Amino acid sequence: APACLEREELSFIMIKPDGVQRGLISDIIARFERKGYKLVGIKVLVPTQALAAKHYAEHDGKPFFPKLVNFLSSGPVVAMVWEGKSVVKYGRTMIGATNPLASPPGTIRGDYGIDTGRNIIHGSDSVESAQREIALWFKAEELADYTPSTAAWVY
Ligand code: PPS
Repeated sequence: APACLEREELSFIMIKPDGVQRGLISDIIARFERKGYKLVGIKVLVPTQALAAKHYAEHDGKPFFPKLVNFLSSGPVVAMVWEGKSVVKYGRTMIGATNPLASPPGTIRGDYGIDTGRNIIHGSDSVESAQREIALWFKAEELADYTPSTAAWVY
């Protein structure tokens, strides 16, 4: 396919149960949208423990693993796929550090979080992780492919 029809980078971004319960969905989506990234997949679901364990498989065996899996499956999450240049790396910059108290103001965790166990949002840590996570949470037909165009829709 010509370059103009190829996708940019994709990242898996998930608003965790605390972010949903606290009413942060619209704010988080707005931040990614205003940055210039494109939303190509979104769903609300309560992850099963099995899905949560698969998602965090690389952390299986760490002391916080059971708590992490229980937390993620404790309520609805918003699972999303965002597209754009360097969305994996810059998405992580927008999210902030694992520990919200080490995240500067202006980041999502810096602005809204205090506790590492309640850190609001997940973002893929590499392009490879993003591919694995997107395949785990979405079917290919659940991802839209489109070119936003204001002019074509306003006039
Ligand atoms: S590690 O060990 O450095 O690879 O861990 P890290 O990448 O920082 O974190 C992996 C995910 O586990 C979450 N986490 C925790 N949850 C609860 N309690 C504790 N102590 C804890 N430490 C790390 C962390 O938020 C990561 O989840 P995501 O969803 O990727 O942010």
